[in-house]
Amino acid sequence: MKQPLWAKANASMDERTMRFMAGRDVHLDQHLLPFDIQATRAHVAGLADINALSGDTASTIDAALEQMLSDIDAGKFILDDRYEDGHSAIEDYLVSRVGEDGKRVHLGRSRNDQVLVALRLYMKDALTRAALLSLDAADAALQRARAHEFDPMPGYTHMQRAVPSSIGLWMASFAEGFCSSASLLRLTRSWIDECPLGTAAGYGVNIDLPREHTTERLAFERTLLNPMHAQATRGSSELQVLSALWQPAQIIRRLAWDLVLFSTAEFGFVSLPPAATTGSSIMPNKHNPDLPELLRGIAPIISGCMTELQCTLALPSGYHRDLQHTKEPLIRGVTTLFQALELIPDLISNTTFNLDRMRSAIDPSMYATDDAVQLAIDGHTFRDAYRHVADNLDALDNRDPAVSIKARSSLGATGNLALAQIEARITALRTDL
Ligand code: ARG
Repeated sequence: MKQPLWAKANASMDERTMRFMAGRDVHLDQHLLPFDIQATRAHVAGLADINALSGDTASTIDAALEQMLSDIDAGKFILDDRYEDGHSAIEDYLVSRVGEDGKRVHLGRSRNDQVLVALRLYMKDALTRAALLSLDAADAALQRARAHEFDPMPGYTHMQRAVPSSIGLWMASFAEGFCSSASLLRLTRSWIDECPLGTAAGYGVNIDLPREHTTERLAFERTLLNPMHAQATRGSSELQVLSALWQPAQIIRRLAWDLVLFSTAEFGFVSLPPAATTGSSIMPNKHNPDLPELLRGIAPIISGCMTELQCTLALPSGYHRDLQHTKEPLIRGVTTLFQALELIPDLISNTTFNLDRMRSAIDPSMYATDDAVQLAIDGHTFRDAYRHVADNLDALDNRDPAVSIKARSSLGATGNLALAQIEARITALRTDL
């Protein structure tokens, strides 16, 4: 490892200890590096604003930082364990490109606010991407709801047959769910949209940094004011981000569970796309629903990441190196969710609905509620109507489930799915992101 930024004359360093302290940090910083560079450019511009750097020096440094970004894109610069972390790599790169002036870049900032700002930018970007992916999933579900608006399937409570329902209702529940997740992700993005840069190590710094200007340059909504508060947000904004990501993960879990269950021979309601299944190494007959099973497993992974963060955040005021441990669960949670969400639209679009199986699973007893409601409308008290139907369940006849489905006409119910309203919400969110 190269000399760390903080190395002093005659300091002794033990390689093994250094490796332990760096941990996986430098590899995780690969996710943060472009954002760290973006914030460094804003910091340099701020230093030039207050003449702490000459305009020429600032331009030279800025051009080198831009070059670093394209070197990263082109695979010409690799962040690896030659460096203690991404912050050191930026300074090292600058010194190698622009010489002594590269050492000016850290004036007025600490790695503490540097990592905070890079993380905030990373999280904003992650929330936007997760919201867009959630909307893609919502669109796919909405399309299937439209195509099967009144196609019957049983509605269950307690996993027991309850009332006739529709594929339209089932699919629209995911459309609205993913859309609502996108809305939460958007709100969370707004909540964390605050700039910590300029708070330095957590106590401010003795130059008049143009903090509001830096906030604007980085397109943050607000400036984090109190430097100790800014430090205290390390890990806790990450927790809120993971908590927002957990919502689409939870909807993925419900969808995946439904698909696993409904694709069993016992139900036979759906057939999974071949790409979503695998075979068995011993049983030639098997088509296992591995994809939905693994998708079902991402909500617990995100919960685990949240628990890791919560346990780490038991600290007094100020920066503590323990906080480095908050990076990994955040990045693991974000990456895991992206990988899963990306697969959802295809899974929804390519699952086959076995209409006959669904329809034949609706038995006459499932019209009991319709009949009790009808008797009450005809003048009986609902409780008397309910008892009458309960005492005469055997008298219920088979009928066309579409009639029952279409008769449930209040907003959102099977006869009135409000798909246009769900679509309007999806469009509004997409425009807002
Ligand atoms: N890798 C460190 C972290 O994630 C960067 C900040 C280091 N600050 C310090 N004072 N040692 O927290």
